[in-house]
Amino acid sequence: MALAEDKKNIINEIKSTSSIDDLEKIRLHYLGKKGLIPEALKGLGSLSIDEKKSKGQELNITKKLIEETVKEQKIIIENKEIENKLISETIDVTLPPNISQQGKIHPISQTIFSIIEIFGNLNYVVETGPDIETDFNNFTALNIPEHHPAREMQDTFYIDGEDNNVLRTHTSPVQVRTMLNKQPPIKIIVPGRTYRSDSDATHAPMFHQVEGLVVDENSTMVDLKSTLVTFLEEFFEVKNLQYRFRPSYFPFTEPSAEMDVAYTKVNNKIKIGEGDNWLEILGCGMVNPIVLENCNIDSKKYQGFAFGMGIERLSMLKYGISDLRSFFDPNYRWLEHYGFSILDSQTRSGL
Ligand code: PHE
Repeated sequence: MALAEDKKNIINEIKSTSSIDDLEKIRLHYLGKKGLIPEALKGLGSLSIDEKKSKGQELNITKKLIEETVKEQKIIIENKEIENKLISETIDVTLPPNISQQGKIHPISQTIFSIIEIFGNLNYVVETGPDIETDFNNFTALNIPEHHPAREMQDTFYIDGEDNNVLRTHTSPVQVRTMLNKQPPIKIIVPGRTYRSDSDATHAPMFHQVEGLVVDENSTMVDLKSTLVTFLEEFFEVKNLQYRFRPSYFPFTEPSAEMDVAYTKVNNKIKIGEGDNWLEILGCGMVNPIVLENCNIDSKKYQGFAFGMGIERLSMLKYGISDLRSFFDPNYRWLEHYGFSILDSQTRSGL
């Protein structure tokens, strides 16, 4: 019978197919209900018992062979398809970015860029420090000795181990690092992450601050005031900002103050600049001579001022973001809405 003798051709036919559809067609042609093998098996009925047996056996062998070859070929074709798919979908990560698929700059980053840009124009340079700080840099050198109640003002995350390290509770330790490393004149801003064990709608355990420090021979409280007013007017894009300085207390500044800015609520949104309400926005003061001496700077010759503010706070006020926690949600739609394009001019110049 031709079918059995033609095994080789049938196998070749199967092995040369390159699509699952063609393979299925061939399978049906031989093995389907009305396929050649079932038909041939049906035709055995008219043969003698011996012939039935031998032809039947041969047909069954051919049938098995076809089944197995189809199975094998199916795997070969499927593997080939996966391989082709992988080749056609390869991404060259060295290609330049496709702007239409770009993500957005997070408002915190954008705020940091703006701050750097404004202070950069005032000749400040950026300094940074590590998130994990020594007890000395975060507290002692800043005139916050052990057991001082001021340590309780900041809910510190302590790090296990003998070194007494902490997650820095403010960016002020970078004042210490900078003064220990260089002599005045010093004029720096320090944006960075800070940590306190506190979490609700207005507090996050990790947040950002920007610190400013000027040390030279003659900077005064007046310079501090005009610097901060210039910064806030630029940052909030307002003229004649209404503000007030309230006496306050920080161990590392003397005298110390907190600055409030006036605001009004328009359609439930805060508008900074003028109005009957006051919003606390930063802490500041003249660098305490004790801190200068702790950092090997002659307090008879040098003086200066420092300030620190919360970046989330500035960002919420400028961009109308009402919940602090949304900054840290991995919510892409939020970022689409509040984020900034990389082609934004402020972002570019900030970089
Ligand atoms: N480090 C202070 C805080 O985190 C802010 C501050 C900085 C105050 C510099 C005065 C001078 O609250």
